[in-house]
Amino acid sequence: MDHFLYKDGQLQAEDVAIAEIAATVGTPFYVYSTATLVRHFQLFDDALDGLPHLVCFAMKSLSNQAVIKVLAEAGAGMDVVSGGEYARVKAAGVPGDRIVFSGVGKTADEMRMALTGGIRQFNVESEPEMQVLSRVATELGVEAPITIRVNPDVDAKTHAKIATGKSENKFGIPISRAREVYAMAAALPGLKIIGIDVHIGSQLTDLTPFELAYQKVAELTEQLRADGHTIDRLDLGGGLGIPYSTSNQAPPLPSDYGALIKRTVGHLGCEIEIEPGRMISGNAGLMVSEVIYVKDGEDRQFLIIDAAMNDLIRPAMYDAHHDIVPVVEAEPGTDKATYDIVGPVCESGDTFAKGRDLPKVQAGDLVAFRSAGAYGAVMASEYNSRPLIPEVLVHEDQFAVIRARPTFDEMIARDTLPSWM
Ligand code: LLP
Repeated sequence: MDHFLYKDGQLQAEDVAIAEIAATVGTPFYVYSTATLVRHFQLFDDALDGLPHLVCFAMKSLSNQAVIKVLAEAGAGMDVVSGGEYARVKAAGVPGDRIVFSGVGKTADEMRMALTGGIRQFNVESEPEMQVLSRVATELGVEAPITIRVNPDVDAKTHAKIATGKSENKFGIPISRAREVYAMAAALPGLKIIGIDVHIGSQLTDLTPFELAYQKVAELTEQLRADGHTIDRLDLGGGLGIPYSTSNQAPPLPSDYGALIKRTVGHLGCEIEIEPGRMISGNAGLMVSEVIYVKDGEDRQFLIIDAAMNDLIRPAMYDAHHDIVPVVEAEPGTDKATYDIVGPVCESGDTFAKGRDLPKVQAGDLVAFRSAGAYGAVMASEYNSRPLIPEVLVHEDQFAVIRARPTFDEMIARDTLPSWM
């Protein structure tokens, strides 16, 4: 459920008309609903009720300061994967003991930054990373709390580019080698083993891969404890999928996922962490765009809109589907037309949808891309020198620009000319 509904024929974000935001900030733009963000966080928090737990928002999915503040105030921890993300959550006021550091390529500088600024745990992904972390922590005279990310070799049955839990992926250490690697970690100075980490992929629409992975983690917990390690915390990753289309079967609910967690690892007495991103932010955001032209092709009609692949890359990159709806609700009985919906960028890949049925639209009409809150704004670029589009946050009947659209001058001013020019 989200908070983008039609009222009196106008698409709204909570109690604000999308058309009003468009008139104020111009198109294209992203808009997020505070109520949806909080509701989705709360669903996970409630799903783990009864177990000691922390829901750490995977902020890579949506990293605006205002969004981080909303979720942190609701009680979320944060999962970060870079020095930049760490700096962002700190700037938003999130305390170190609620920040988890994931990622396969943490640098010594990033480790130093987190150890100095405060960190709940590092999810370590390889032996060389373990050695560098040991050295950095020892130099600083501190102990780095760690889990080791294990790769359980399960098929997440999702898009190949976002599956991470198979043995051919670059993530984690093979679960078959876990006992050996934990023994190595225990022998290194400056590291404090606290648990196990696993993350098998993103946009999972079936719970079975989670179940297989978590069963393996439960077995490993018993083995590592028998080997004398302290395993008090299990980070079970993110990845629960969302409905991208109202016509598809809905993916499992956070409550089903929570029940699965309780069933598979609930008996171990561990504190549970999860790292959902998309399920919290995905359906909390829209991208809104204006139709520039309706162009007749030889055998099809193109809707050329003012948003492009640089603003929302998911369709070009993953063949992802986003529902696209008119901002002014069509009157019942309005004629439908079939469109290829494309942006202005000079690449055929700049196609959002092919053969999509929509109520007839014309130049100047607004359309909204649903489910665009996750991996939308954060993956945008300025390709074709199209400035990053603004982000807007709605709270009940108020809205605010939470990242402004740079002017052309601001965009150009980031380049500097060498002294010899
Ligand atoms: N934890 C780790 C270690 C991750 O790598 C990810 C996502 C998450 C948590 C959050 O997963 P989520 O709950 O959002 O599925 N750009 C792609 C998705 C990439 C996901 C990368 N890792 C897309 O637009 O579909």
